[in-house]
Amino acid sequence: MNLIFLGPPGAGKGTQAKLLSNFSGIPQISTGDILRAAVRDESPMGVRAKSYMDSGALVPDEVVVGIAEERLSQGDCDKGFILDGFPRTVAQAESLSEMLERMGKTITAVISIAVDEEELLERISGRRACEKCGKVYHLVYEPPKDITKCDLCGGILYQRDDDKKETMRKRLDEYRQKTAPLIEYYSGKGLLEEISGTGSIEKIQVQIRRAVEGARCDNP
Ligand code: AP5
Repeated sequence: MNLIFLGPPGAGKGTQAKLLSNFSGIPQISTGDILRAAVRDESPMGVRAKSYMDSGALVPDEVVVGIAEERLSQGDCDKGFILDGFPRTVAQAESLSEMLERMGKTITAVISIAVDEEELLERISGRRACEKCGKVYHLVYEPPKDITKCDLCGGILYQRDDDKKETMRKRLDEYRQKTAPLIEYYSGKGLLEEISGTGSIEKIQVQIRRAVEGARCDNP
């Protein structure tokens, strides 16, 4: 089962992809997480990506395509993968399709998660993540017991730099201009499964699992 999770910033792609990954044992591949780790490690790629990420812009296609190709060729992706936040432009989608063809793989479904803009802004501004284990919380919708510490490992909770108000708006603009066209692109290929991202996290996960099961019957 080879899946793509598509949606605007804050739609719940990471939250839902992690739940599905835990349930199915298939790895979640988040280009955002890989890029943030590279920024923290100050690797050459991280240094290059940082200015784009800090301003809310997309990182150049050739950088993320390279990341995706390297990650998808690792052995744990033989049983499947859940791409979270990649592809994000039509050019990335075309590169992905070429790389999967070389690997003899196909996409089972593209899960597109829709949430209205007011709620996205609320979700992004309330998001906190653990700097040690990466667990994501929301101060109102999924609050930790202590707002400074992770329930799971006690790590310190922080707000992502790109979750500040000014950057948030730019990320939403980037999504509208460069990523939203992928909805039509994948719909045209008969791969799109549209899911409402409003409601409880558990209910949305049930809908996603149903959609994935249906798509597996159509594209075994
Ligand atoms: P990335 O990390 O991928 O960020 P994003 O796509 O903007 O998505 P988010 O992580 O903000 O949101 P999400 O949809 O995962 O929501 P979450 O589950 O956390 O990318 C960051 C940057 O890296 C980009 O801006 C770009 O610069 C670069 N980048 C990455 N990939 C790239 C690519 N392919 N090409 C070019 N550049 C790339 O949920 C959000 C909050 O809401 C959480 O607090 C959560 O607890 C809460 N929540 C979740 N579900 C619900 C619910 N149902 N009800 C209430 N609250 C909920």
